[in-house]
Amino acid sequence: MGHPYNIEVELTQNSQLEKVDFNNLKFGQILSDHMLVADYDDGEWKEVKIVPYGNISLSPATSALHYGQAIFEGIKAYKFEDDRVSIFRPDKNFERFNKSALRLEMPAVPKEIFIDGLKKLIDIDRNFVPNTAGASLYIRPYMFATEAALGVHPSKSYKFVIITGPVGAYYNKPLRVKVETFYTRAAAGGVGFSKNAGNYALALYPTKLAQDEGFDQLIWTDAKEHKYVEEAGTANLVFMLGDTLVTPGSDTVLQGVTRHSIMDIANSWGIKTETRDVSVKELIDGIETGQVSEAFAAGTAATLTPISEIGFEGKVYKLSDPETRTFSNRVVNYLNDLRYGKIEDPFGWNF
Ligand code: COI
Repeated sequence: MGHPYNIEVELTQNSQLEKVDFNNLKFGQILSDHMLVADYDDGEWKEVKIVPYGNISLSPATSALHYGQAIFEGIKAYKFEDDRVSIFRPDKNFERFNKSALRLEMPAVPKEIFIDGLKKLIDIDRNFVPNTAGASLYIRPYMFATEAALGVHPSKSYKFVIITGPVGAYYNKPLRVKVETFYTRAAAGGVGFSKNAGNYALALYPTKLAQDEGFDQLIWTDAKEHKYVEEAGTANLVFMLGDTLVTPGSDTVLQGVTRHSIMDIANSWGIKTETRDVSVKELIDGIETGQVSEAFAAGTAATLTPISEIGFEGKVYKLSDPETRTFSNRVVNYLNDLRYGKIEDPFGWNF
């Protein structure tokens, strides 16, 4: 049987590749030459195309712009020394994307469009995948409601798009984070586990307030009592508590692929791991007694970013010097070696 979707390709006549300074990459500022665009209408995915990167024309009544029916993913691809390109665990992001779609009453995107489209797109733009240390190709699949109508109802039409671009580090220094005890990111029964646009919009104002106080990011706490820590702005939280690697487990938290991978690696090294509620008190007491020896943010964009200080109720708690952290440094080196193809991949994560 042939492929159920014919992915048409139109190549650019105006490549931007020559202009890219691969030795000075920031996050999310440079976009590759091509994008994948698929349209959903009348209950089915129709046109799927890879076209030159460019603007999309929209009606001012486009419902995603009004009611936020919009979801996305973040994935990275890496270049091996022999020039092969590997995408890191896109199957996990594909699964999560469709969970987000279900929660936002959007259609699922078939694997033949998400995964096969991704492979084809990255193959076309493979020269945009950096081979410089610490750099990768960031892949942003997203979907939004395109129906031009102002009534609040699930859109009848959607656009699925994948854009990519070479990136360096998202955070270039250890983070000072503040435990947020007033504003809320997500409540039980809400959309915290899904990667929808609104989860990021609502974070901007409280994050700005924390930044005005000199912090880089927030640690969100549960909506009901602000007693349990959840996640850190754009990434998951992970702590080394005694001899156990612990990460908050509530369903208001995004099920991060990087976090999951780090927990699996720790397990394979014989380190105990727990996904469970972590109270603010346990965290703060743990820092004071030295039980919390490491803390970091884990995410596709963030990779593993050490947390150096945690602010809570007007007091700042300092953690160990990131350079001296045994587990964090070991796991980040291992993860990098695996993703850049420098070591065997015992988990089958390179795609
Ligand atoms: C990612 O880690 O890929 C994300 O999507 C976080 C982000 C909002 C930059």
